[in-house]
Amino acid sequence: MSNGVKIRAKAAVVIDQVTQKGRSLDRAIEVIGLDKNSKQKSLFMAICYGAIRHYWELQADLNRYISRPIKKKDSVIENLIVSGLFQIKYTRIPAHAVVVQTVEAAKDLKKHNLSAFVNAVLRKYLRTSNSANMVLEDQAIYNHPQWLLDQFREDWPDHWQEICKNNNIQGPMWLRVNRKKIETKKYLSKIAESLNKSLEETGYIGDLDHSICLNDPISVDLLPNFEKGFVSVQDGAAQIAAEILLNGRNGKILDACAAPGGKTGHLLEIIDSNSSVTAIDIDPKRTEIINDNLMRLDLSANVISANILDTKKWWNSELYDLILLDAPCSSTGVIRRHPDIKHLKRKEDIDSLNNTQSRILNSLWNLLAPGGYLLYVTCSILKKENDLVIKYFLNRNTTAIQKNLLLNNNINDVMHKTDYGCQLLPGTKGMDGFYFSLLKKAVL
Ligand SMILES: C[S@@+](CC[C@H](N)C(=O)[O-])C[C@H]1O[C@@H](n2cnc3c(N)ncnc32)[C@H](O)[C@@H]1O
Repeated sequence: MSNGVKIRAKAAVVIDQVTQKGRSLDRAIEVIGLDKNSKQKSLFMAICYGAIRHYWELQADLNRYISRPIKKKDSVIENLIVSGLFQIKYTRIPAHAVVVQTVEAAKDLKKHNLSAFVNAVLRKYLRTSNSANMVLEDQAIYNHPQWLLDQFREDWPDHWQEICKNNNIQGPMWLRVNRKKIETKKYLSKIAESLNKSLEETGYIGDLDHSICLNDPISVDLLPNFEKGFVSVQDGAAQIAAEILLNGRNGKILDACAAPGGKTGHLLEIIDSNSSVTAIDIDPKRTEIINDNLMRLDLSANVISANILDTKKWWNSELYDLILLDAPCSSTGVIRRHPDIKHLKRKEDIDSLNNTQSRILNSLWNLLAPGGYLLYVTCSILKKENDLVIKYFLNRNTTAIQKNLLLNNNINDVMHKTDYGCQLLPGTKGMDGFYFSLLKKAVL
């Protein structure tokens, strides 16, 4: 079997794992065990991400060419055809090559009996797709599950279509330059030099002075002095959080829900010498990654692996001046980077997340000093995880005052002001979707 065939068979297994078995894309790719140096890796990734991103539309295409549903035990073949349709519609690979390799991949998956069926469906699609007059359901038009479309429509009646469109376009690669090591402009020049490109061809500096958006994503191995901590990969919107929380403030800082440490590193890069950071996360493996990241950046924090809600187990009774709560959420603001979210999250999850978010917020409030600030952040665009959490909290908490974010104007201008905070929608100025609400504890 050629590499092209093997890659297609493996991609079908990954897509099947995500869409049928509820496994995350990262985990499914890890389990399938692709050779790191495989020349076909980028094709493999493009097929997995692309088919998962456009799944509902590709399913609608497939359903037109089969007379009855494919048996559940053969779902991997259904997903192999979906991946073939993706390549025909969205890549420049010649259609006949896609068909031949996809049919061979069915054999590699030990489904010899279905290879003729795969061949027939793909060829029929090639013959008739141009003339087909289809009435598509919303799911196939917008490539999102119905419950999520309904939720976007309800929460963002004027923006839901734009949200869906942006969710289906892969996000650009953003960097955060470590100002303790190098100036941003200098670093951008260094990348340009190492890629042998002009500055304009390489990327641009974002509205936050230390952020760079690259025109084309590159492997971190190609980023100058990455290992020496000159730079981190972090979306432009995620970089807003530490800036809002600090904004001239200092003291004892708690980074709650910190792993893998993207915002911990950022806080440590910008705090003054009178400040210190404690970072906490419930997941021990992810907490280890915080330590790895800080070591690379040459920075240090008090890193704890514990459940925030078990304060007796980890808290030393000293109040914090500033708390960053980057709450666990549906991640609906980062679907363009993680298209598997559309398959893995369920409507019921949102109520349970709302409950967790409220419990963590309530618990952390007791650890905040009077006069201190707490920034509530999510990478969700759903009101139930954002404004509704804050509304409920403020209704029950007389010591909490909601404050303006006071960011630089370019960013303020593109944020949607909500009742209790600010929302960036995915794709705005090339950034992910994030919600921010800044709360101050009254001095009584
Ligand atoms: C959105 S992620 C944090 C991303 C991180 N702030 C960054 O910038 O890299 C949310 C984190 O919350 C953690 N988490 C969820 N429930 C928690 C709890 N009860 N106590 C501590 N951490 C929790 C999860 O393990 C997860 O790593």
